[in-house]
Amino acid sequence: MRVLGIETSCDETGVAVYDTALAGAAGLRAHAVYSQIALHAEYGGVVPELASRDHVRKLLPLVRQTLAEAGLTPSDLDGVAYTAGPGLVGALLVGAGTARALAWALERPAVGVHHMEGHLLAPLMEDDPPEPPFVALLVSGGHTQLVAVEAIGRYRLLGETLDDAAGEAFDKTAKLMGLPYPGGPQLARLAEQGRPGVYVFSRPMTDRPGLDFSFSGLKTQVLLTWRDSDQGEQTRADIARGFEDAVVDTLAIKCARALEAAGSDTLVVAGGVGANRRLRARLQEMAEKRGGRVCFPRPELCTDNGAMIAFAGALRLQAGQHDDAQVKVTPRWDMATLSNVNQAASS
Ligand code: KG4
Ligand code: ZN
Repeated sequence: MRVLGIETSCDETGVAVYDTALAGAAGLRAHAVYSQIALHAEYGGVVPELASRDHVRKLLPLVRQTLAEAGLTPSDLDGVAYTAGPGLVGALLVGAGTARALAWALERPAVGVHHMEGHLLAPLMEDDPPEPPFVALLVSGGHTQLVAVEAIGRYRLLGETLDDAAGEAFDKTAKLMGLPYPGGPQLARLAEQGRPGVYVFSRPMTDRPGLDFSFSGLKTQVLLTWRDSDQGEQTRADIARGFEDAVVDTLAIKCARALEAAGSDTLVVAGGVGANRRLRARLQEMAEKRGGRVCFPRPELCTDNGAMIAFAGALRLQAGQHDDAQVKVTPRWDMATLSNVNQAASS
Protein backbone atom coordinates (compact mmCIF):
# COMPACT_ATOMS: atom_id res chain seq x y z
CA MET A 1 0.00 0.00 0.00
CA ARG A 2 1.45 3.37 -1.06
CA VAL A 3 0.44 6.19 1.24
CA LEU A 4 1.09 9.90 0.87
CA GLY A 5 1.77 11.59 4.22
CA ILE A 6 1.23 15.30 4.86
CA GLU A 7 2.44 17.13 7.97
CA THR A 8 1.53 20.79 8.59
CA SER A 9 0.88 21.01 12.34
CA CYS A 10 3.40 23.77 13.09
CA ASP A 11 6.27 25.38 11.19
CA GLU A 12 7.41 22.50 8.98
CA THR A 13 5.71 21.42 5.74
CA GLY A 14 6.45 17.69 5.43
CA VAL A 15 5.46 15.33 2.62
CA ALA A 16 6.40 11.68 2.07
CA VAL A 17 5.36 8.46 0.41
CA TYR A 18 5.57 5.23 2.42
CA ASP A 19 5.10 1.87 0.71
CA THR A 20 4.13 -0.96 3.09
CA ALA A 21 5.16 -3.58 0.50
CA LEU A 22 8.78 -2.63 1.19
CA ALA A 23 9.44 -3.16 4.90
CA GLY A 24 11.62 -0.99 7.14
CA ALA A 25 13.65 1.92 5.85
CA ALA A 26 13.19 0.82 2.21
CA GLY A 27 9.45 1.55 2.53
CA LEU A 28 10.16 5.25 2.61
CA ARG A 29 10.07 5.96 -1.13
CA ALA A 30 10.64 9.71 -0.81
CA HIS A 31 10.33 12.45 1.76
CA ALA A 32 10.82 16.21 1.80
CA VAL A 33 10.56 18.83 4.51
CA TYR A 34 10.34 22.57 4.02
CA SER A 35 11.19 24.47 7.21
CA GLN A 36 9.70 27.89 7.93
CA ILE A 37 12.47 28.77 10.42
CA ALA A 38 13.69 31.79 8.43
CA LEU A 39 10.13 33.14 8.20
CA HIS A 40 9.55 33.11 11.96
CA ALA A 41 13.11 33.88 13.14
CA GLU A 42 12.64 37.67 13.26
CA TYR A 43 9.66 37.24 15.61
CA GLY A 44 11.53 34.86 17.95
CA GLY A 45 8.82 32.19 17.67
CA VAL A 46 6.13 30.74 15.41
CA VAL A 47 3.49 33.22 14.18
CA PRO A 48 0.44 30.98 13.51
CA GLU A 49 -1.12 32.98 10.66
CA LEU A 50 2.20 33.26 8.81
CA ALA A 51 2.68 29.52 9.27
CA SER A 52 -0.73 28.73 7.72
CA ARG A 53 -0.09 30.99 4.73
CA ASP A 54 3.31 29.49 4.09
CA HIS A 55 1.90 25.96 4.21
CA VAL A 56 -0.60 27.07 1.53
CA ARG A 57 2.29 28.27 -0.64
CA LYS A 58 4.59 25.29 -0.15
CA LEU A 59 2.41 22.21 0.22
CA LEU A 60 1.33 21.41 -3.35
CA PRO A 61 4.79 22.03 -4.90
CA LEU A 62 6.23 19.75 -2.21
CA VAL A 63 3.63 17.03 -2.99
CA ARG A 64 4.58 17.21 -6.69
CA GLN A 65 8.30 17.11 -5.87
CA THR A 66 7.92 14.13 -3.52
CA LEU A 67 5.83 12.11 -5.97
CA ALA A 68 8.38 12.82 -8.71
CA GLU A 69 11.23 11.68 -6.45
CA ALA A 70 9.32 8.48 -5.67
CA GLY A 71 8.74 7.95 -9.40
CA LEU A 72 4.98 7.92 -8.85
CA THR A 73 1.92 9.72 -10.15
CA PRO A 74 -1.04 10.65 -7.92
CA SER A 75 -3.07 7.70 -9.22
CA ASP A 76 -0.38 5.29 -7.95
CA LEU A 77 -1.35 6.22 -4.39
CA ASP A 78 -3.58 3.91 -2.34
CA GLY A 79 -4.38 6.41 0.39
CA VAL A 80 -3.60 9.76 1.97
CA ALA A 81 -2.63 10.45 5.59
CA TYR A 82 -2.44 13.88 7.20
CA THR A 83 -1.79 15.31 10.64
CA ALA A 84 -5.19 16.05 12.19
CA GLY A 85 -3.80 17.29 15.53
CA PRO A 86 -2.52 18.32 17.96
CA GLY A 87 -1.14 21.56 16.55
CA LEU A 88 -2.00 25.05 15.29
CA VAL A 89 -5.56 24.98 13.96
CA GLY A 90 -4.96 27.06 10.81
CA ALA A 91 -1.81 25.13 9.90
CA LEU A 92 -3.57 21.79 10.48
CA LEU A 93 -6.48 22.85 8.28
CA VAL A 94 -4.17 23.50 5.31
CA GLY A 95 -2.86 19.93 5.42
CA ALA A 96 -6.26 18.39 6.18
CA GLY A 97 -8.02 20.31 3.40
CA THR A 98 -5.37 19.46 0.83
CA ALA A 99 -5.20 15.80 1.83
CA ARG A 100 -8.98 15.43 1.84
CA ALA A 101 -9.32 17.10 -1.58
CA LEU A 102 -6.60 14.87 -3.05
CA ALA A 103 -8.18 11.73 -1.62
CA TRP A 104 -11.62 12.80 -2.86
CA ALA A 105 -10.33 13.49 -6.37
CA LEU A 106 -8.41 10.19 -6.49
CA GLU A 107 -11.25 8.23 -4.87
CA ARG A 108 -8.91 6.89 -2.23
CA PRO A 109 -9.35 6.68 1.56
CA ALA A 110 -7.82 9.32 3.81
CA VAL A 111 -6.99 9.17 7.50
CA GLY A 112 -6.19 11.85 10.06
CA VAL A 113 -3.11 10.98 12.12
CA HIS A 114 -2.25 12.04 15.67
CA HIS A 115 1.02 13.98 15.40
CA MET A 116 2.49 12.36 18.53
CA GLU A 117 1.54 8.87 17.36
CA GLY A 118 3.43 9.76 14.19
CA HIS A 119 6.51 10.67 16.25
CA LEU A 120 6.11 7.57 18.42
CA LEU A 121 5.96 5.19 15.46
CA ALA A 122 8.81 6.85 13.50
CA PRO A 123 11.48 4.49 14.97
CA LEU A 124 9.48 1.56 13.56
CA MET A 125 10.19 2.81 10.05
CA GLU A 126 13.85 1.89 10.48
CA ASP A 127 15.30 -1.57 9.82
CA ASP A 128 14.90 -4.22 12.55
CA PRO A 129 11.99 -2.39 14.20
CA PRO A 130 10.99 -3.18 17.80
CA GLU A 131 7.62 -4.79 18.44
CA PRO A 132 5.23 -3.76 21.21
CA PRO A 133 5.08 -3.93 24.13
CA PHE A 134 7.75 -1.30 24.79
CA VAL A 135 8.18 2.04 26.53
CA ALA A 136 8.34 5.25 24.51
CA LEU A 137 9.92 8.55 25.46
CA LEU A 138 8.32 11.37 23.47
CA VAL A 139 10.39 14.53 23.66
CA SER A 140 9.34 17.36 21.39
CA GLY A 141 8.77 21.10 21.55
CA GLY A 142 5.27 20.67 22.96
CA HIS A 143 5.36 17.30 24.74
CA THR A 144 7.47 15.31 27.17
CA GLN A 145 5.81 12.00 27.88
CA LEU A 146 6.67 8.47 28.91
CA VAL A 147 4.19 6.09 27.33
CA ALA A 148 3.63 2.34 27.73
CA VAL A 149 2.96 1.09 24.21
CA GLU A 150 0.89 -2.06 24.73
CA ALA A 151 0.02 -2.36 21.04
CA ILE A 152 0.08 -0.03 18.07
CA GLY A 153 -2.73 2.37 18.92
CA ARG A 154 -2.97 1.38 22.59
CA TYR A 155 -1.04 3.90 24.64
CA ARG A 156 -0.93 4.29 28.41
CA LEU A 157 0.56 7.48 29.80
CA LEU A 158 3.16 6.71 32.49
CA GLY A 159 4.38 10.24 33.13
CA GLU A 160 4.59 13.68 31.58
CA THR A 161 5.88 17.16 32.18
CA LEU A 162 4.03 19.30 34.69
CA ASP A 163 5.21 22.51 32.99
CA ASP A 164 7.64 23.04 30.07
CA ALA A 165 8.35 20.30 27.54
CA ALA A 166 12.00 19.28 27.16
CA GLY A 167 12.28 20.96 23.73
CA GLU A 168 10.59 24.07 25.06
CA ALA A 169 13.10 24.17 27.94
CA PHE A 170 15.96 23.95 25.40
CA ASP A 171 14.39 26.73 23.31
CA LYS A 172 13.65 29.08 26.24
CA THR A 173 17.08 28.52 27.83
CA ALA A 174 18.77 29.23 24.51
CA LYS A 175 16.76 32.42 24.13
CA LEU A 176 17.61 33.76 27.56
CA MET A 177 21.32 33.30 26.77
CA GLY A 178 20.84 35.27 23.54
CA LEU A 179 20.89 32.42 21.01
CA PRO A 180 18.72 32.85 17.90
CA TYR A 181 15.43 30.99 17.32
CA PRO A 182 14.97 28.03 17.29
CA GLY A 183 17.34 27.62 20.16
CA GLY A 184 17.31 23.88 20.92
CA PRO A 185 19.73 22.69 18.25
CA GLN A 186 21.88 25.85 18.67
CA LEU A 187 22.17 25.27 22.41
CA ALA A 188 23.14 21.64 21.77
CA ARG A 189 25.82 22.78 19.32
CA LEU A 190 27.17 25.32 21.79
CA ALA A 191 27.24 22.67 24.54
CA GLU A 192 29.79 20.73 22.45
CA GLN A 193 32.31 23.47 23.33
CA GLY A 194 31.27 23.51 26.99
CA ARG A 195 33.21 21.80 29.76
CA PRO A 196 31.32 19.23 31.81
CA GLY A 197 30.96 19.92 35.53
CA VAL A 198 31.80 23.65 35.45
CA TYR A 199 28.13 24.39 36.07
CA VAL A 200 25.95 21.74 37.68
CA PHE A 201 22.18 22.19 37.65
CA SER A 202 19.59 20.08 39.44
CA ARG A 203 17.94 16.95 38.03
CA PRO A 204 14.33 17.99 38.73
CA MET A 205 11.99 15.48 40.38
CA THR A 206 14.50 12.62 40.33
CA ASP A 207 14.84 12.62 44.15
CA ARG A 208 11.31 11.27 44.65
CA PRO A 209 9.36 8.40 43.10
CA GLY A 210 7.26 8.98 40.02
CA LEU A 211 7.61 9.42 36.28
CA ASP A 212 6.57 13.05 35.82
CA PHE A 213 8.95 15.82 34.77
CA SER A 214 9.34 19.52 35.47
CA PHE A 215 11.76 21.63 33.46
CA SER A 216 10.74 25.21 34.17
CA GLY A 217 12.79 25.50 37.38
CA LEU A 218 15.89 24.44 35.49
CA LYS A 219 15.38 27.31 33.06
CA THR A 220 15.18 29.73 36.02
CA GLN A 221 18.40 28.28 37.50
CA VAL A 222 20.12 28.95 34.19
CA LEU A 223 18.69 32.48 34.03
CA LEU A 224 20.07 33.37 37.47
CA THR A 225 23.45 31.75 36.74
CA TRP A 226 23.74 33.52 33.37
CA ARG A 227 22.80 36.90 34.90
CA ASP A 228 25.47 36.61 37.59
CA SER A 229 28.18 35.39 35.21
CA ASP A 230 30.68 37.30 33.04
CA GLN A 231 28.49 36.31 30.04
CA GLY A 232 31.60 35.41 28.03
CA GLU A 233 31.62 32.87 25.19
CA GLN A 234 33.23 30.06 27.20
CA THR A 235 30.84 30.70 30.09
CA ARG A 236 27.86 30.47 27.75
CA ALA A 237 29.15 27.17 26.37
CA ASP A 238 29.84 25.82 29.89
CA ILE A 239 26.32 26.77 31.05
CA ALA A 240 24.83 25.20 27.91
CA ARG A 241 26.74 22.01 28.69
CA GLY A 242 25.55 22.04 32.31
CA PHE A 243 21.95 22.54 31.20
CA GLU A 244 22.11 19.82 28.53
CA ASP A 245 23.69 17.37 30.98
CA ALA A 246 20.91 18.08 33.52
CA VAL A 247 18.12 17.49 30.98
CA VAL A 248 19.76 14.39 29.51
CA ASP A 249 20.47 12.92 32.93
CA THR A 250 16.92 13.59 34.12
CA LEU A 251 15.42 11.97 31.04
CA ALA A 252 17.73 8.94 31.38
CA ILE A 253 16.89 8.45 35.08
CA LYS A 254 13.15 8.56 34.35
CA CYS A 255 13.46 6.26 31.32
CA ALA A 256 15.26 3.62 33.42
CA ARG A 257 12.53 3.96 36.03
CA ALA A 258 9.76 3.65 33.42
CA LEU A 259 11.34 0.50 31.93
CA GLU A 260 11.50 -0.95 35.43
CA ALA A 261 7.86 -0.04 36.17
CA ALA A 262 6.61 -1.45 32.87
CA GLY A 263 8.77 -4.59 33.10
CA SER A 264 10.18 -3.84 29.65
CA ASP A 265 13.70 -3.86 28.23
CA THR A 266 12.96 -1.89 25.06
CA LEU A 267 12.89 1.89 24.91
CA VAL A 268 11.79 3.86 21.85
CA VAL A 269 12.69 7.54 21.66
CA ALA A 270 11.03 10.05 19.35
CA GLY A 271 10.40 13.76 18.86
CA GLY A 272 12.74 16.67 18.10
CA VAL A 273 14.89 16.36 21.23
CA GLY A 274 15.52 12.73 20.19
CA ALA A 275 17.95 14.23 17.66
CA ASN A 276 20.17 15.38 20.54
CA ARG A 277 23.49 13.54 20.31
CA ARG A 278 24.23 13.47 24.01
CA LEU A 279 20.74 12.16 24.80
CA ARG A 280 21.15 9.39 22.22
CA ALA A 281 24.53 8.36 23.64
CA ARG A 282 23.34 8.46 27.26
CA LEU A 283 20.20 6.39 26.60
CA GLN A 284 22.22 3.89 24.56
CA GLU A 285 24.57 3.47 27.50
CA MET A 286 21.65 3.09 29.94
CA ALA A 287 19.90 0.49 27.77
CA GLU A 288 23.10 -1.52 27.28
CA LYS A 289 23.76 -1.55 31.01
CA ARG A 290 20.28 -3.00 31.53
CA GLY A 291 20.84 -5.59 28.80
CA GLY A 292 18.07 -4.00 26.76
CA ARG A 293 17.68 -1.97 23.63
CA VAL A 294 16.97 1.64 22.68
CA CYS A 295 15.57 2.56 19.24
CA PHE A 296 15.65 5.99 17.64
CA PRO A 297 14.61 7.21 14.23
CA ARG A 298 17.48 8.71 12.19
CA PRO A 299 17.92 12.33 13.43
CA GLU A 300 16.08 13.92 10.46
CA LEU A 301 12.99 11.81 11.31
CA CYS A 302 13.07 12.92 14.97
CA THR A 303 11.94 16.44 14.10
CA ASP A 304 8.64 17.07 12.30
CA ASN A 305 8.34 15.31 8.94
CA GLY A 306 5.80 13.79 6.55
CA ALA A 307 7.36 10.31 6.66
CA MET A 308 6.10 9.56 10.16
CA ILE A 309 2.59 10.62 9.12
CA ALA A 310 2.68 8.49 5.96
CA PHE A 311 3.86 5.51 8.03
CA ALA A 312 1.39 5.87 10.93
CA GLY A 313 -1.42 6.51 8.43
CA ALA A 314 -0.43 3.48 6.36
CA LEU A 315 -0.72 1.21 9.41
CA ARG A 316 -4.25 2.47 10.08
CA LEU A 317 -5.35 2.41 6.43
CA GLN A 318 -3.95 -1.09 6.06
CA ALA A 319 -6.07 -2.14 9.05
CA GLY A 320 -9.14 -0.86 7.22
CA GLN A 321 -9.46 2.35 9.20
CA HIS A 322 -10.21 5.68 7.57
CA ASP A 323 -12.16 8.83 8.37
CA ASP A 324 -15.38 10.26 6.95
CA ALA A 325 -14.99 12.70 4.06
CA GLN A 326 -14.93 15.85 6.15
CA VAL A 327 -12.18 18.33 6.90
CA LYS A 328 -11.85 18.02 10.66
CA VAL A 329 -8.86 18.76 12.84
CA THR A 330 -8.29 18.39 16.59
CA PRO A 331 -5.86 21.03 17.90
CA ARG A 332 -5.92 19.45 21.40
CA TRP A 333 -5.98 15.68 21.35
CA ASP A 334 -5.16 13.07 24.01
CA MET A 335 -3.25 10.12 22.52
CA ALA A 336 -4.81 7.73 25.06
CA THR A 337 -8.17 8.16 23.24
CA LEU A 338 -6.86 6.57 20.01
CA SER A 339 -8.15 3.19 18.87
CA ASN A 340 -6.02 0.07 18.70
CA VAL A 341 -4.96 -0.50 15.08
CA ASN A 342 -5.89 -4.20 15.13
CA GLN A 343 -9.25 -3.56 16.78
CA ALA A 344 -9.93 -1.05 14.03
CA ALA A 345 -9.38 -3.79 11.46
CA SER A 346 -11.96 -6.08 12.99
CA SER A 347 -14.59 -3.43 13.70
O1 KG4 B 1 9.19 17.19 17.27
P1 KG4 B 1 9.54 18.58 16.89
O2 KG4 B 1 10.21 18.82 15.58
O3 KG4 B 1 8.28 19.51 16.92
C1 KG4 B 1 7.25 19.39 17.84
O4 KG4 B 1 6.35 18.53 17.61
O5 KG4 B 1 7.35 20.11 18.85
O6 KG4 B 1 10.44 19.12 18.08
C2 KG4 B 1 11.00 20.40 18.06
C3 KG4 B 1 11.78 20.59 19.34
C4 KG4 B 1 12.23 22.02 19.52
O7 KG4 B 1 11.93 22.45 20.82
C5 KG4 B 1 13.74 21.93 19.29
O8 KG4 B 1 14.46 22.91 19.97
C6 KG4 B 1 14.05 20.56 19.78
O9 KG4 B 1 12.96 19.77 19.35
N1 KG4 B 1 15.30 20.03 19.22
C7 KG4 B 1 16.42 19.78 19.95
C8 KG4 B 1 17.41 19.31 19.04
N2 KG4 B 1 16.85 19.29 17.79
C9 KG4 B 1 15.57 19.74 17.92
N3 KG4 B 1 16.66 19.89 21.27
C10 KG4 B 1 17.87 19.53 21.71
N4 KG4 B 1 18.87 19.08 20.91
C11 KG4 B 1 18.70 18.96 19.58
N5 KG4 B 1 19.68 18.51 18.80
ZN1 ZN C 1 6.46 17.21 16.38
